[in-house]
Formats: sequence, C-alpha cells, structure tokens
Amino acid sequence: QQNSPIPVDPLKIVAKELKFLTKNIRSLLGSGHPMLDTVAKYYTQSEGKYVRPMLVLLMSRATACIPTTTASYSPPPQETINAPISPAKVLADNNPSQDPEPFGPLTSPSTPDDTSDPSILPSQRRLAEITELIHTASLLHDDVIDHSLSRRSSPSANIAFGNKMAVLAGDFLLGRASVALARLRDPQVIELLATVIANLVEGEFMQLKNTAHDEKCPEWSPDTMEYYLQKTYLKSASLISKSCRAAALLGPARDTPEAVEAAYVYGKNIGLAFQLVDDMLDYTISGAELGKPAGADLELGLATAPLLFAWEEERELGKLVGRKFAGKGDVQKAREIVLASRGLEQTRALAQAYVDRAIGALSIFPESEAKQGLVDMCEKVMKRRK
Ligand code: FPP
Ligand code: MG
Ligand code: MG
Repeated sequence: QQNSPIPVDPLKIVAKELKFLTKNIRSLLGSGHPMLDTVAKYYTQSEGKYVRPMLVLLMSRATACIPTTTASYSPPPQETINAPISPAKVLADNNPSQDPEPFGPLTSPSTPDDTSDPSILPSQRRLAEITELIHTASLLHDDVIDHSLSRRSSPSANIAFGNKMAVLAGDFLLGRASVALARLRDPQVIELLATVIANLVEGEFMQLKNTAHDEKCPEWSPDTMEYYLQKTYLKSASLISKSCRAAALLGPARDTPEAVEAAYVYGKNIGLAFQLVDDMLDYTISGAELGKPAGADLELGLATAPLLFAWEEERELGKLVGRKFAGKGDVQKAREIVLASRGLEQTRALAQAYVDRAIGALSIFPESEAKQGLVDMCEKVMKRRK
C-alpha cells in the first residue's frame, strides 16, 4: 500500500468532524444583540469550502502518529477548551425585567461521538474552528474593501447589511476567535494565530498600496513577481501555513521540530498554490460558477499572477498597470492580452510547483490515510473551479 496509495477523498476522512464545525462556529458567534447575531452568522449559512479547517484536521491526524520525543507533553485541560461562551447581555442591562439571556445560552462545542477519530484532540478541533472564524472575518472585511456584490452565490454581507455592520461583524468574529484561541492556553499557538491576523492586514495593505507599481508607467522586473508572492503569502498562505504549524504544535509532534516545520512548509506551499489558482479562476471561470463576481481583479485595479506573467511578455501592459486599468477600455485590453499570453499557463505551472513542494514536505511523515488526504488536497486545489 505504501508504494501505491489508494486515493482517498480528503473530505470523507474528516466529514464527521466538519459536521460539528459549522454548529460550533455558530455557537461561538452567538450575541445577545439579535442584529449582530444575524450579521455575524451570515456567512455560516452557506457552506464554505472549509479548506482551512480541513487542512488543520488532516494535519492533526497526520502528525498524531509522530511519537513525542519527551515525556513532558500533555494536552491542555478540556474544561477551558470546551467552555461555553456567554452571549453579551446587552439588552438585559437596558431592561432588567427581561430574561438576562433572552436569546438562549450558548452551548459548549460539541464533539463527534465515540466513533470519531481519537487522534484529533479537542484543542485541534477548536483550532480548525478558529481558522474558519479568522478566514470569515477577513471575507467580511474584504467584501467591503472590494465593494463586492456577492459571495457564495448570495448577496455579500456589505450588500445585505451595509458596510458598517459588515465591518463590525468581522471585528466581532475576530474577538470571538481570540477568546477561543486564548482558551487553548498555548502561548505559541496564540502568537502564531495573532500574527496571522496582522499578516492578513499587511497583505491587504501591500495590495492596496502597491509601491512597486505606484508610478506612472512601471517597468516589469523580477521584483514585481517577488512583491506579488510576498503579498500572496501574507494575504492567503500565512493563515494556512501557521495554522498547519499550530495543529502540529497542539499534538504529540510538538517536540519534533522537523515535523512542526514540515507542517508549516506544507501549509505555506499549498496556501500559495491556492491563491495562484484563485487568481487564475478570476480570469477563466464565470461569476455564476464562482458564486462571486468574476474578472473582479482587473476591475479593482489589481495585477495578479496571470497579468504579471503576461506583462513580462508584453511590456506595453506597464502603462495600464500604472493607471490601475482605470483608462477607458483598459480592463478589456488587459484581459485580452492576458488571455492571448502564456500568463494563465505559467500561473498554473507555478501553482503546480508549489503543490509539488507541499507534497515533498510530507515525506518525513509516516504513511497514513490523513497524509494521503493532505496529498489529495493538493490535487483538489489544482482542479478546483470555485
Ligand atoms: C480575499 O481575497 C481576502 C483575503 C484572502 C484576505 C483579506 C484581508 C483583509 C481584508 C484584511 C483584514 C482582515 C482581518 C481578519 C483583520 P480576494 O479579494 O482576492 O478574494 P475574493 O475574490 O474571494 O474576494
Ligand atoms: Mg475580494
Ligand atoms: Mg480582496
């Protein structure tokens, strides 16, 4: 079996776990304020792809069989990890006669039953939920920044509730993610995930204020791609890489630095590939299939990998890049040049090189169904159409 692994559906391996994930995320997002409660839970109504939680759960399993090298490892106490979070009693303060928790107390996170995988620790399940919370918070903010109209085939939160509520709901998600994170009682993991939040903002700032392109007619240079990849790491791969590292740190592999590093390298490379494919799909897939506007990047003035590769071939693109495709007909012209160039093919090849590196990083892990699941996630990333 080691030489010819049977392909497994990574989704199936953690399907049972994922069933509890949305429920737990929703319970983490309960608020005594009914409107905040609604907005905060809005993106949990439509099923996301759960890429980040899936990777955390698979990484937790794949590193579970790496024996700890010291006798000191003991998982944190479950009482704090699984403690319920009470909704804010905002209304009770104004109206003492009302039930202090009029919207019902929140329940403790539920754990899959006895038949579930014992190799995933409660702290690792909570980490999977935290990654999805941080990701969803970033989407709430991103849709405001991008003036997005739709997400997951429904009106985006900024459209459904307005910018102010969408931003505040994102902040609320970050707050609740921070509570859940603190309850893991693991300073290293807290530091990693707090850094992710800062990285998301740094990546978004790099995209907003593209110093490499903030001139009238920038020249293409190898730094152009460097800048884009750095931004891509911060905006997308940081969450995936650092949560994969955190998953390893929460389990018995925490004292095996090579395993913790391999988890990080896997996450970093699959994360970079994930965003490269995302940037490619923006050119190749219809909005209907994506569930969000297609061709949005050029409209937003963004030069992503397909265009940067095309620019290397067609230096006249510099003029359009410099004015952020804001001139009449710029978006259409840039799109045509990209589609006629090798940009999309080169983007795919670069993404493939990253997933190959991700798979390479797994070589130090013992063979397991979860390890195969991590390999198959790479294929899923390359084949995805949304
Ligand atoms: C989606 O990118 C957005 C991100 C990957 C990160 C956005 C980060 C921020 C808005 C920074 C603030 C976030 C927090 C949590 C403080 P996209 O716009 O390229 O993708 P899309 O097509 O899905 O909208
Ligand atoms: Mg966006
Ligand atoms: Mg964006």
